[in-house]
Formats: sequence, structure tokens, C-alpha cells
Amino acid sequence: KKQYRIAVIPGDGIGKEVMPEGLRVLEAAAKKHGVAVHFDHFDFSSWDYYEKHGQMMPDDWKEKIGKHDAIYFRAVGWPAKIPDHVSLWGSLIKFRREFDQYVNLRPVRLMPGVPSPLANRKPGDIDFWVVRENTEGEYSSVGGRMFPDTDREFVTQQTVMTRTGVDRILKFAFELAQSRPKKHLTSATKSNGISITMPYWDERVEAMAKKFPGVKWDKYHIDILTANFVLHPDWFDVVVGSNLFGDILSDLGPACTGTIGIAPSGNINPEGDFPSVFEPVHGSAPDIAGQGIANPIGMIWSGAMMFEHLGEKEAGKSIFDAIERTLAERTLRTKDLGGNADTTACGKAVAEMVE
Ligand code: NAD
Ligand code: IPM
Ligand code: MN
Repeated sequence: KKQYRIAVIPGDGIGKEVMPEGLRVLEAAAKKHGVAVHFDHFDFSSWDYYEKHGQMMPDDWKEKIGKHDAIYFRAVGWPAKIPDHVSLWGSLIKFRREFDQYVNLRPVRLMPGVPSPLANRKPGDIDFWVVRENTEGEYSSVGGRMFPDTDREFVTQQTVMTRTGVDRILKFAFELAQSRPKKHLTSATKSNGISITMPYWDERVEAMAKKFPGVKWDKYHIDILTANFVLHPDWFDVVVGSNLFGDILSDLGPACTGTIGIAPSGNINPEGDFPSVFEPVHGSAPDIAGQGIANPIGMIWSGAMMFEHLGEKEAGKSIFDAIERTLAERTLRTKDLGGNADTTACGKAVAEMVE
């Protein structure tokens, strides 16, 4: 029987608080379902590591974690100490690009009993996936700063869309849509204003749609799309977007389901040539770090996605079910969801439900 090797990287801020809860629940599910997992812990990809070593990760980081079956990861970023673009381009964005994790898969789901900030919404009304392009687009290193500190100073940063890059994320999204009961795909665009890359994106969507005649599809400009997330979240099933649009939509979606603290994600290399990274959508939350009140559900749900990705469907499902049952009880929820449980109490509750 296979033993999975998971690289564990807790990062900064509340990452260090939610990670133990994620591991607690993974261990409970592994025990219950007879899944053999081994966790290797790494301290890099954090401000502490940077302070000691002057870089975010060791030079041989790829050898250290590149052979693992998956990476269980949490927030990087401590803006009071180090500029965000330095810490993120030195860690998370490196993982995504170097491990070719071109799919960023982010579910959005209103859970039973959890109040939505949107009026009169019930579970089932909000249940969709954001499929975010994760290796190119607006997140590019093409550009620069010229004539610094003069009146002629200017900066540019190019959006890069490759045919391979656009087509592979669209194919993934259409396949996902095809596998779901509603078989509906929505594309996020802005081809009215961004006049070269976005019309290209639309063109590739249209071409890909021809290969999936069973999938109904539509597109919205990103401005009205964000409005429709709030006004009509029930319209959506699979929403595909470029790197930046997907980033924005995947905070807005979960906010409509009560809190970004429950939102999970998978940075996936579908071919399996490299390990995939599973992490919550939220960041290191310096404003609440150290208080023990962070919601651990995003971390725990990311663990469920990781087990599913590894093929351990039963173990993944039992974690997901335990999350649903925990969130249904107000006293087991953290403060961001109107409860009074602390991080550990919430994590323990999920682990007990799994058992
Ligand atoms: P953030 O997600 O850290 O926090 C935004 C707000 O949501 C804060 O008020 C925070 O308290 C709250 N929040 C976030 N997670 C929560 C949780 N689990 N439970 C309860 N409340 C929660 O976003 P930010 O403030 O924009 O970024 C802070 C730092 O995190 C920055 O350095 C940023 O670059 C970094 N960041 C990292 C990642 C990542 O590693 N994947 C993702 C997003 C942001
Ligand atoms: C996310 C985060 C990252 C992103 C940041 C921290 C670089 O916001 O994972 O959504 O923009 O991709
Ligand atoms: Mn984000």
C-alpha cells in the first residue's frame, strides 16, 4: 500500500495557527480510512526564514519538496517586515510557475446553517467553482522601470497569454463543467477595454466551446461579473478567469458564503509531473495573528481537496462532511462566522466529527 509523502509549509502569521488544525484533521481522516501519510515539515517560505537567510527559500528548495506527493501550504506575507512582492515571488508564485500548477481550483459553497451576507440565500443557491489560470496572464515578470527617480520615470508590466496556457486552463474548466449536473461555464473577460489579450481569450473560449457541445456557456465582463456574484450567485456553476480576474473572484465568492476563512484551493499540475500545492485562499492576516481566533476551515478543507487529488476520495469526503456538520453549529464556529470557538476548538470539533 502506498505511503504518501506530504511537504508541510506553515509560512507566516495565522498560517502557523491554522496548520496544526489542518494536520490534526488529516491525521484523523488518515487513521479512520487507513491512508498512510508521512508529513515532512519545512520552515522556509516565511519571514522568519528570510530574516535568518536573506532569501525566502534555500537554493535547493526544488530538490527538497519536488518529489513529494503534494505540498500542504499556508500563507506567506509579513508586509511590515518585507514587501509582499518579494516574499510572494520568492515562494508561492515560484511554486506555481516552476511546478507548472496551471490550474488554481477554488470552490465556493454556502454551507448549511452558515449565514450569507447576501439576503435570503440558502445552501444550493451558491455552489460553484472558480477555475483560475495560475501561471501567466497579468502575473508576469515582463516589464520594468525606466529612468528611476526622475520626472521621466515610467513602469510597464505586460500581460502574457500563450495559446498553450489559455487553451489548457479552458479545457480543464470545460471538462469540469461537463462533469457537473448543470454543465454550465462562465468566462470572465474584459474585451471591451483590454483590447488585445482579452479578445484573444474570448476567441479561445469560443474555439474550446466547440469541442464541448454539451456545455452551455456565457461570458461577462469582469465588472458586471463581480456585480452578478453578489446579485445572482445562483447563475454560476464553473467560472473560468485569467490569473488576476480569478484571484479577485475567488475572494469575492467565498465572502458571499460568509467568510474568506473557509475557502480552500488547489494549485494543480494536472499531469502529475510535479507536486500540487493545497492551501487556503486567505493570507497571513496580520491583523488577527497571535490571537488564536483564525478560522481553520479553509486550511482543513484544502486538506480534503488534497486527499481527493491523491485519489483518497473517501478520506476527502469524510473531512468535507465533518466540516459541514461543524459549521452547522454556531458554537463550533470561529468569530468571523459569528461564533465564539477559537481556532483549536473548531479544528478539534472537525477532527472529532471525522472520527
Ligand atoms: P488576508 O486574507 O490575510 O486577510 C484579509 C482579512 O480577512 C483580514 O481582516 C483577516 O483578518 C481576515 N481573515 C483572513 N483569513 C482569515 C481566517 N482564516 N479567519 C478569520 N479571518 C481571516 O489578506 P491581506 O490582508 O490582503 O494579506 C495579508 C498578507 O497575506 C499579505 O502579506 C498578503 O500578501 C498575504 N497573502 C498571502 C496569501 C498566500 O500565501 N496564499 C494569500 C493572500 C494574501
Ligand atoms: C492568492 C493570493 C496570491 C495571489 C498573492 C498572495 C500573491 O492572493 O493565492 O489568491 O494573488 O495569487
Ligand atoms: Mn488572492
